[in-house]
Amino acid sequence: MAAPSCPALLATCLALQLATAARGDGCSGFGNLFTEIPENSAHGSLVARLPAAGDTGSAGLQLCLAGADAAWFYLDGRSVRLNVSAGRALDREVEYRIIVQVLNENDNRPHFQGATILTHNVSELAAVHSVVFSTQAEDADGDTLMYVIDTASPDARFFRIDLPNSGKVVLARALDFESRQQLEVVVTAVEMNTRERFNASARVRVNVLDGDDQYPQFLPCTPRTHHGLTVCTSPVYTANVTEGQLQGGPLSFSPGSVYAEDGDRGLRAAITYSLLAGQESGRFHIDNMTGAITLLRAVESSRSTPAISLSVMASQVNDANKFAVTQAVVRVLAANRHPPRFAHPTYRAFVPAGAREAALLLTFGGRVLALRAHDPDFPEGVNPQVRYSLRPGANHSQLFQVMPNGLLVARADRLHPTQTYRLQVLARDEESGETSSTAVELEVLWPGQAAPRDPSEVGSGRSPLNMGVLAGGLGALLLLTAAILFLIMRAMKKRQRQQETADRAALAIEKHPNVSLRWFQPVSAGGR
Ligand SMILES: *[C@@H]1O[C@H](CO)[C@@H](O)[C@H](O)[C@H]1NC(C)=O
Ligand SMILES: *[C@@H]1O[C@H](CO)[C@@H](O)[C@H](O)[C@H]1NC(C)=O
Ligand SMILES: *[C@@H]1O[C@H](CO)[C@@H](O)[C@H](O)[C@H]1NC(C)=O
Ligand SMILES: *[C@@H]1O[C@H](CO)[C@@H](O)[C@H](O)[C@H]1NC(C)=O
Ligand SMILES: *[C@@H]1O[C@H](CO)[C@@H](O)[C@H](O)[C@H]1NC(C)=O
Ligand SMILES: *[C@@H]1O[C@H](CO)[C@@H](O)[C@H](O)[C@H]1NC(C)=O
Repeated sequence: MAAPSCPALLATCLALQLATAARGDGCSGFGNLFTEIPENSAHGSLVARLPAAGDTGSAGLQLCLAGADAAWFYLDGRSVRLNVSAGRALDREVEYRIIVQVLNENDNRPHFQGATILTHNVSELAAVHSVVFSTQAEDADGDTLMYVIDTASPDARFFRIDLPNSGKVVLARALDFESRQQLEVVVTAVEMNTRERFNASARVRVNVLDGDDQYPQFLPCTPRTHHGLTVCTSPVYTANVTEGQLQGGPLSFSPGSVYAEDGDRGLRAAITYSLLAGQESGRFHIDNMTGAITLLRAVESSRSTPAISLSVMASQVNDANKFAVTQAVVRVLAANRHPPRFAHPTYRAFVPAGAREAALLLTFGGRVLALRAHDPDFPEGVNPQVRYSLRPGANHSQLFQVMPNGLLVARADRLHPTQTYRLQVLARDEESGETSSTAVELEVLWPGQAAPRDPSEVGSGRSPLNMGVLAGGLGALLLLTAAILFLIMRAMKKRQRQQETADRAALAIEKHPNVSLRWFQPVSAGGR
């Protein structure tokens, strides 16, 4: 019969109580039981027999009857029987419908399967707001579970759960393998519709996998901070070659061999090297696997080509769009077969003591002493890379100075007549590092005293070819100076026509305002 026509509905609840922590599977055989018994059935008549529900877990099952009309029935093992007596019978000519409802008591806690620490791999390229992994807990009572991220867990800010029932964990912010390789978050599953709201937690370890988001980098790079980012700036590689020479093998670069690595340290994509086309790039070959650069054709002259700048590109073999470019500078050195040399091991020099702060050292005949180291590697012997210096000495460090053009200057105001000094002048080829030295024996003259004549010229009748004269000194020198100036003018006029080119350039010493004179000097300085 249809339910609405029933005059009385007897609902009896059978509450199953699990005396032991039995698995929920044992209850799955129960459901609502529908059964019929005729009226006037005898006490003890069988109303329903509960299914065996499998043997698993049923051992600990304890059954009891509950509900408003439970007194009409009693339990006999697994059987539900009718409880009537003489004065208390089912006396209607009807059928009672008994609903036997098996109620599940919330006696199981949710739990996550497997290890207490779950591991998931997530690429650093995973899109923000996308589901990166899923967690599933189980509840033996079949309660609806809701998942939440424990905000107290270390990396909770990276994740969120948008649909609480789904257990799907969404990426809340971008991952970066280069800064973090592992994250940890705690996910809790909570019963939604129970009074107890039991919960279970799982620690989830997220391994961030490297994605191809970095470009190659030339090494050794220099880390620099830029707007809070650490930027790796490529080195400029430098190497030397000698003009006219073709050394075998790859060039030796500084600060190290040309070498690049994939910025994605977890991927280490293979790198290929190439030279960007340039004026001189055809002169070189680069090994596309090793980055070794070889000179193919010698550079003719270091004067016309002092250096060659190459643009080296390193790109990923699997993605040519990921590349880096840096400069490799090849310096062309002059062929160096000879060191610079002074013409004499010792030079004689004179300087009158005086009030001047700076006075040029003279040599025999009053000519300006000009030291010049001769380098046969260069036309006319002039190596522009030669630098002159005074060897630091005990008693002259403050008093003398050598100028880049080989002239020596003295603090005449701090010298005293008849003093002698021995100076060591060094000439260093800055390119090759070769050095040679000479000695200057200096004698301090009385103010106005003329430098002696060259002993080798005395009596030969020859007069000095060129009369470079130091003007300046004390008032006592004025007459002499005038006379010498007259001689200069004469000498100049005499030589002007044919000798303009032979003369060394007139020099002005701007460093020493007190010595603002001009003079002419012979190509080879006087010596002994
Ligand atoms: C049967 O019903 C009577 C009267 O309602 C009650 O006293 C008795 O305890 C019941 N028997 C069982 C086994 O439940
Ligand atoms: C994660 O990746 C590692 C290798 O990177 C692998 O050994 C492991 O099996 C992966 N784990 C999962 C859960 O995919
Ligand atoms: C989980 O249960 C414990 C106690 O059993 C409670 O302190 C905690 O707040 C619960 N966690 C959540 C997320 O409901
Ligand atoms: C490197 O060069 C060789 C030939 O010189 C070529 O066969 C090879 O494909 C090149 N490799 C790459 C990665 O470009
Ligand atoms: C400077 O030292 C040299 C020897 O080193 C010495 O001959 C000379 O007299 C000294 N000159 C002075 C002014 O002390
Ligand atoms: C190149 O030569 C210069 C001197 O001219 C030297 O200082 C430098 O160290 C050399 N570089 C290399 C890579 O050899």
